[in-house]
Amino acid sequence: MPQDISRVEAVMMAAPVIPVLIVEDPSKAVPMAEALVRGGLPAIEITLRTPRALEAIKLVAENVEGAIPGAGTVMDQAQYDAAVEAGSKFIVSPGATPKLLDIADQHDVPLLPGAASASEVMALLERGYERLKFFPAEQAGGAPFLKSLSSPLAAAKFCPTGGVSLEKAASYLSLPNVLCVGGSWIADAKAIASEDWSGIEERARAAAALPR
Ligand code: 3PG
Repeated sequence: MPQDISRVEAVMMAAPVIPVLIVEDPSKAVPMAEALVRGGLPAIEITLRTPRALEAIKLVAENVEGAIPGAGTVMDQAQYDAAVEAGSKFIVSPGATPKLLDIADQHDVPLLPGAASASEVMALLERGYERLKFFPAEQAGGAPFLKSLSSPLAAAKFCPTGGVSLEKAASYLSLPNVLCVGGSWIADAKAIASEDWSGIEERARAAAALPR
């Protein structure tokens, strides 16, 4: 059964920015997520690029009130199932394949699939996906590219991710086809490793205040 669009839209509308996180040490996940939630960014994407990412998602899901943890870089059935099992409320993929969309159809936990061209967007619209990640956003043409899609492919609304900064986020968020943006600038690997929770909270607060 195709997925219910309102579920993924609720995640995208929770705040103007979804922090994209690479978490090596799960013991840092709870204070990191607490700082993000305090700063006003409840939806957080923990990428499955580290061996212990699933543990981090589980800890956030079980311990951080108000957080909406999601799993990023999900590309196959095993990862999708494990991410849902760990408590992910949403799933993000850098792209989309027919196989991945079939897997998503088996789950209530929604997928935010990636697209970077008009044809990729059209293929996803055909499958009922109107809420998409635009990835890699800056490298694939940035805000001018996305603006060009807003008239011919008006049903598609995006979360641009990849090379986005606070300044660039503002120009994406001014577009009619952008609901939120994603990025690692709020809590990069260095900030997490050095436990810079106040810096993360401060950057989250600035991101949460972006108009859209
Ligand atoms: C990623 O793939 O890591 C995300 O798209 C975040 O990209 P960024 O690090 O350029 O913000």
